[in-house]
Amino acid sequence: MKELKFAFRYVRRHALQYLLGIIALYVVDYVNVFVPEFTGDITDGLATSTLNMAGAMEIVWKIILMGAIIALGRFGWRFFLFGAARSIEKEIRQDMFAHLSTLSMRYYNQHKTGDLMAHFTNDLMAVRQLLGMTVISAFDATVMMILVLTKMVQYVDMRLTVVAVIPLMVIFFGDYFYGKAMHKRFRAKQEAFSQLTDQVQETVSGIRVIKAFVQEHKELAAFALTTQRTKDKNLHVVRLQALVMPLLDLIIGLSSLLTLLYGGYLAIHGEISVGQFVAFNSYVGMLVWPMMAVGECMTSISQGMASLGRIVGIFHEKPDITDGAQTDHSIRSLKGEIALNHLTFAYPDQPETTVLKDVSVRIRQGETLAVIGRTGAGKTTLPSLLLRLYDVPDGMITIDGHCIRKIPLATLRESIACVPQDNFLFSDTLQSNIAFGSDDKALASVEHAARLACIHDNIAEFPEQYATIVGERGVTLSGGQKQRSSIARALMKVHGAGAPILILDDALSAVDTDTERNILDNLKTVRSGLTTIIIAHRISTIQDADHILVLDDGVVEEYGSHEELLQRDGLYRSLFEKQQLEKQLREEDPTGQPEGGEHNA
Ligand SMILES: Nc1ncnc2c1ncn2[C@@H]1O[C@H](COP(=O)(O)OP(=O)(O)OP(=O)(O)O)[C@@H](O)[C@H]1O
Ligand SMILES: [Mg+2]
Repeated sequence: MKELKFAFRYVRRHALQYLLGIIALYVVDYVNVFVPEFTGDITDGLATSTLNMAGAMEIVWKIILMGAIIALGRFGWRFFLFGAARSIEKEIRQDMFAHLSTLSMRYYNQHKTGDLMAHFTNDLMAVRQLLGMTVISAFDATVMMILVLTKMVQYVDMRLTVVAVIPLMVIFFGDYFYGKAMHKRFRAKQEAFSQLTDQVQETVSGIRVIKAFVQEHKELAAFALTTQRTKDKNLHVVRLQALVMPLLDLIIGLSSLLTLLYGGYLAIHGEISVGQFVAFNSYVGMLVWPMMAVGECMTSISQGMASLGRIVGIFHEKPDITDGAQTDHSIRSLKGEIALNHLTFAYPDQPETTVLKDVSVRIRQGETLAVIGRTGAGKTTLPSLLLRLYDVPDGMITIDGHCIRKIPLATLRESIACVPQDNFLFSDTLQSNIAFGSDDKALASVEHAARLACIHDNIAEFPEQYATIVGERGVTLSGGQKQRSSIARALMKVHGAGAPILILDDALSAVDTDTERNILDNLKTVRSGLTTIIIAHRISTIQDADHILVLDDGVVEEYGSHEELLQRDGLYRSLFEKQQLEKQLREEDPTGQPEGGEHNA
């Protein structure tokens, strides 16, 4: 069983805690079963008038001592066993997070965020219960049942024990089936609840769209359905509980009644003493919990094992992209000479659609390559492949003459400063966001990068300047402000960490042409010998590049400098003419918006 092997790895580290906890648990159980015997002795002593004050006090002191041991023992087992289970939960959670961060994009494309969240919350909780409460219950119930039954037979009477235990057996078996039915209903309830949370989350994050399309009433109607379902599932659970709980009382009552009748009969006929009769009643009460616990243990074991299975599944997920046998660890840094050799690529989950076809380009160190092309042409796929978010066959992409699969992954990714098309800022200060990929977090360096990215003036206007928190917990930046913050972040990587390659994926689309000019001019001053790839839709962004690659449906349609491409009567020239015409029209119409003005992304 790989689940048990996995769990044992963690349990072993806390073996001492488990051992001490189980000893404490055993001591508590062992002492517990003596208490009714003592009350029995007192009763007998009183009934037969053989007990003097000194004798009574002795027993009282014994009971107090036992109470103290039980209290200490209870604290002990909770402290050790719950402590161990919490530590293991923490360790697994940490390891799971570390493991998830190694997995490649393919894994994240295939798994929903909600499912991953559930592994971190529900599944881990079930495992914690399995390794904590369930271990305790299983051990406790078994020990308790054996000890109590032995006492019943030894101290009181065999026949009476059989009579009292028969109705309790119903609890023992009934609880197992109850647990199964309950588990099913409970899961349905959980699912309904997680659907409800999903729906609220989706609505809140999409509220702008919902409002803009005036869909509030529809969302409300859909939500009413979900809350109704949640209520139904909750009632489903409660109804079963409401049915079973009185039934349980009935059975316990029945058992007490039989004990009373038959025990009374035995006591009257002098076969057992009054004290034994009193003690026996306590023992019957002590048996109820272990009988129930066994059934509960079974369901919680099956639940915990299922969760453990899912967690083990994550750990068995191997990252597709890692350093391997062919990695050459002597490659510590790169200069930035990139070559694509007949690069052909399809995304792993859609192998039949080739996104890039036979693309061959060389970019020497310090040169700028621009990539332009219609939407969906495969432009963003290029940086993903350079960063090795997806793998391509050997030799199709080389940097400094090394196949990128030979370059250690950390070296490769440290060498590329990329402004992704879907730029992302964390809910953190602007300073931390900009310094994100750099070891140098100093404000002066951050400010320098921000000036180069033409975002410093905007930031200076915020009351808290670089300490301004962005994202969900703070200020909402405009699309263009976000883009320029991302550019500043990439420039920190170039400047601070010395990355030799800069990639801007549609990173200037939300800034006006003047700002764009300034940023592009600043880029030239950042680092000599910086290899740059600029992906854009606007000719104005890319016309100064050393080489321009026109991609169309994954194929290199045209390749050359701005002037060369204009000479040809191709896609580039028609794009250029169209954009020139648009520009003229805007200039003639003064009410028109400036080209590519800031908009909220
Ligand atoms: N993760 C993915 N899995 C499968 N297919 C993808 C994935 N990402 C992109 N594609 C597909 O690959 C093709 C190229 O996408 P890509 O993002 O490279 O286009 P693009 O040129 O950057 O477009 P845009 O100008 O709109 O940014 C598209 O047809 C897209 O549907
Ligand atoms: Mg793109």
